Amino acid sequence: MNSTKTDAIDVKTFRPDDITLGDAIYAGWRAAQLHDVPDVTPFGRDNIQAMLETPPHGWTGEYFVATVGDEVVGALLLFLPQLDNTHLAHVEGWVHVEHRRMGVGRRLYAHTLDRLRELGRTTLVVRVQDPADADPPAAGPRFADAVGMTCALTEVTRRLQPGEVDTATTDALLADCRARATDYELLQWSDGLDGATPPEHVDDLARLEVRLDTDAPTGDLNMQAREPDPESIRARCERNRLAGIRNFHTAVRHRETGRIVAWTLISSPPSDPGHCWQGITVVDPDHRGKRLGTYVKLENLPYATAMEPSLRVVETNNAGENAHMIAINEALGYRIHGRTHNYQKEV
Ligand SMILES: CC(C)(COP(=O)(O)OP(=O)(O)OC[C@H]1O[C@@H](n2cnc3c(N)ncnc32)[C@H](O)[C@@H]1OP(=O)(O)O)[C@@H](O)C(=O)NCCC(=O)NCCS
Repeated sequence: MNSTKTDAIDVKTFRPDDITLGDAIYAGWRAAQLHDVPDVTPFGRDNIQAMLETPPHGWTGEYFVATVGDEVVGALLLFLPQLDNTHLAHVEGWVHVEHRRMGVGRRLYAHTLDRLRELGRTTLVVRVQDPADADPPAAGPRFADAVGMTCALTEVTRRLQPGEVDTATTDALLADCRARATDYELLQWSDGLDGATPPEHVDDLARLEVRLDTDAPTGDLNMQAREPDPESIRARCERNRLAGIRNFHTAVRHRETGRIVAWTLISSPPSDPGHCWQGITVVDPDHRGKRLGTYVKLENLPYATAMEPSLRVVETNNAGENAHMIAINEALGYRIHGRTHNYQKEV
């Protein structure tokens, strides 16, 4: 360890609307982001504040800052589900680039364990980025190993660059998908900053969303499936609006039953609207095997590009063993860009 002494590190709570401290914390986080993932533009100060002030639906947030004297050296965010998975805490943390390898991370980790024991939470989960070809190797996974967390699930990050897609292949795929999808009607809408999810879609989307908990591989993560909750769809839309995020959705409705049975979305962040993120893709179990997953994704890309003409990258994460989703993504032109590890610790 070098100069910072762990007993000189103070850890205390902060409020997202604390202007003075908030500016220093944001500046440190932004510098850390630019250092750790230089090809992703960090969210703006106002957008981050909005997301901290409005945690995901049914979750609460507790936020801590580490200081040495007057200087901010790191921060810790705890997100605590209240409606389900009440044994869990999702943790995010960072240390100022100039104060790394001085024990700040260990101090924040010790604080996390103390606070979770006070709260009676027994499992912590942290997502740690591991960009491809990082030089020097990414600190997050090394730190997580050093403090005794276990990697419970590794997701592979892939990127799609529409300009580099083999359109002859994707056009043929789309023609095949359309020919098979005559029992289904295509739906497209945008929400978040662009407005609200159509109310008539909300129940179906809530039902589809929780299929991910049971059907997408979750490795050794100690998580339980949620109950469908239409309010979570409405609340996420509102949270995205506050954070300046636009979401572009494509779904299909089964003509016979009138139910939405496949759904995908791409999100465009305010910091760099052209660097988009692939969100949920899910197909109702009764309608799998009909290329609907490929269909909605193929239809969503030109829709997202029409809505956000600067779109140049779409980034996605899949569990390494999610063979079906990966096969679809590879066919669409997604290529490996790095990894995200989900580390876990029983407290
Ligand atoms: C990961 C992070 C929080 C570590 O903070 P830190 O204050 O530098 O960590 P510490 O000084 O307490 O390091 C504790 C141990 O972790 C390991 N470690 C930390 N960074 C490492 C690196 N870059 N390479 C190898 N080992 C590392 C070492 O074993 C270290 O002990 P040592 O310095 O005595 O050898 C910081 O690098 C960071 O903010 N990274 C980006 C955000 C992130 O990945 N957060 C997720 C954290 S799980």
